[in-house]
Amino acid sequence: MGKLDGHVALVTGAASGLGRASAQLFAAEGASVVFADLNEADARAAADEAAAAGGTSAAEQIDVTAFADCERVVAAAVERFGRLDILMTCAGVGDTAPILELDAETFRRTIDVNLTGTFLCCKAAFPALARQGGSIIAIASVAGIIGAPGFSAYGASKAGVLHLMRILALEGAASHIRANAICPSWVWTPMVAKAVERIMPGAPAEMAQAYLARQSPLGRMGTPADVARAALYLAADEGAFMTGQAMVLDGGLTAGPRPL
Ligand SMILES: NC(=O)c1ccc[n+]([C@@H]2O[C@H](COP(=O)([O-])OP(=O)(O)OC[C@H]3O[C@@H](n4cnc5c(N)ncnc54)[C@H](O)[C@@H]3O)[C@@H](O)[C@H]2O)c1
Repeated sequence: MGKLDGHVALVTGAASGLGRASAQLFAAEGASVVFADLNEADARAAADEAAAAGGTSAAEQIDVTAFADCERVVAAAVERFGRLDILMTCAGVGDTAPILELDAETFRRTIDVNLTGTFLCCKAAFPALARQGGSIIAIASVAGIIGAPGFSAYGASKAGVLHLMRILALEGAASHIRANAICPSWVWTPMVAKAVERIMPGAPAEMAQAYLARQSPLGRMGTPADVARAALYLAADEGAFMTGQAMVLDGGLTAGPRPL
């Protein structure tokens, strides 16, 4: 028996990285899962992979910055699978630069996708989740908890996501909608590979990975599976008493200063 048998999940950013791994674990645990992403072809491939492994899945294109898209995809999930119990928002962009090199357009776009996009998906899903109660899981970041040079747009967007989850936990409680965030530190995904290429052009991936692993006291990066397992806890009955919180998955990175 799966932990999510009979549940329906919608995961944004499900074509790649953390969203893909989480959506696939949800499907493996018995949920019917809608894989939604701007990149429709990769979302479909991820959904097909879940189906080939015995899961129930569908794929939808979504631009999370467009409310009409968010509403359409929620409606498609409900039409296809009859209900919506879980919304996981993983769609995101990760451009970073020091303030003098960060243009206003990149700042706005980062807030638009990471923060406004999360808000719009939640707003679209709220009525369907409220029918029987449900779980919202937003991927924030340790960058929304601690500052790091170059992360003004990204960090501000993720701090906003954390606070948005607290507010939605309060607004959703009467309808048994829980809302939580997951704050990962570094996980090697296409987003991070792209950021590393921008910051350290030409650096071999293994060198960058070793550097990022050393940032955490546990001495390794996170994995998509670490994040997927945390998301499963929040999506399933185990997480039934948790709402308005941030689950930090960082190998101890934000626990305090490292020994000298
Ligand atoms: N990888 C990390 O180290 C890390 C750490 C903390 C938080 N995060 C967050 O996790 C989430 C997933 O990131 P990832 O590392 O898996 O990156 P990724 O680039 O592998 O996946 C991000 C996905 O979001 C999709 N996307 C981008 N803009 C979109 C839009 N407007 N509408 C719909 N989909 C859109 C992309 O197509 C892509 O499939 C992001 O919110 C990211 O900020 C990542």
